[in-house]
Amino acid sequence: MASNKKSNKLASNSNTRSAPVDDKEDSASKRQKVDSAPAPAPAPASTDRASMPALRLGATAPDFEAKTTQGDIKFHDWLGGSWAIFFSHPADKTPVCTTELGEVAKLQEEWTKRGVKTIGLSCNDLDSHEDWIKDINELSNVNLSFPIIADADRKIATLYDMLDEQDLTNVDQKGIPFTVRSVFIIDPSKKIRLTLQYPASTGRQFKEVLRCIDSLQLGDKHRITTPVNWQPAGEGVPKEASKVIVHPSVSNEEAEKIFGAGNVEYPKPYLRFTHLKQGS
Ligand code: BEZ
Repeated sequence: MASNKKSNKLASNSNTRSAPVDDKEDSASKRQKVDSAPAPAPAPASTDRASMPALRLGATAPDFEAKTTQGDIKFHDWLGGSWAIFFSHPADKTPVCTTELGEVAKLQEEWTKRGVKTIGLSCNDLDSHEDWIKDINELSNVNLSFPIIADADRKIATLYDMLDEQDLTNVDQKGIPFTVRSVFIIDPSKKIRLTLQYPASTGRQFKEVLRCIDSLQLGDKHRITTPVNWQPAGEGVPKEASKVIVHPSVSNEEAEKIFGAGNVEYPKPYLRFTHLKQGS
């Protein structure tokens, strides 16, 4: 792959596998360049995603066995009946990943408050992970204590469709792709409830992951949805920012019963806001 990278005309000015060709070129030469682009390195593990269950929202998170920095696990046993986030990192000792893992560790109290377990994955072995954690702890002044899966052979990354097909720099020395930055939010019944996928070059905002979990947990408890830019109620959050939407399946009559007469606003018949009591 390293030598392919050099001869890849499409990507000569870019790190991406799908960089656009010059607009002035005719379509035949464009096609020829596309034809001569290197094929992405094949998924390395024996796991073939095409024959696997889809990772759609509502699907059961696939089970697997793994070596982690907290010992060997069977994923479903490790999940137990808890909420969890399962998130991938391209590789150990890479800059963006290092900052992200420090942040996840810093937010430990927030995950615990919501009953959320955290588990990372990176395409290196355990020794490398252990060494990397020392750096993360030093740089972010944390004590990272959640498991990081060692997935040097990409078996689990393939199972969860995490491998990078875009970024030519996001590969190991043999040219085998690392992962993108995937996040799976998994609920206590082991269903995938929300996914995010960021490129290797863009660090995630884990406070947004917390906000998503708050929205999912609130929606499971009450018959509501959360609008654009919603923020969970709390100190310093304007009341307007934490208002929620009455779920479309709830009639107006039911809404007034559930949320209280006078506590439902009707800007449109299909858009009905309400305020939940704090702490509910
Ligand atoms: C990073 O974590 O900084 C990174 C990893 C792979 C490709 C690009 C950036």
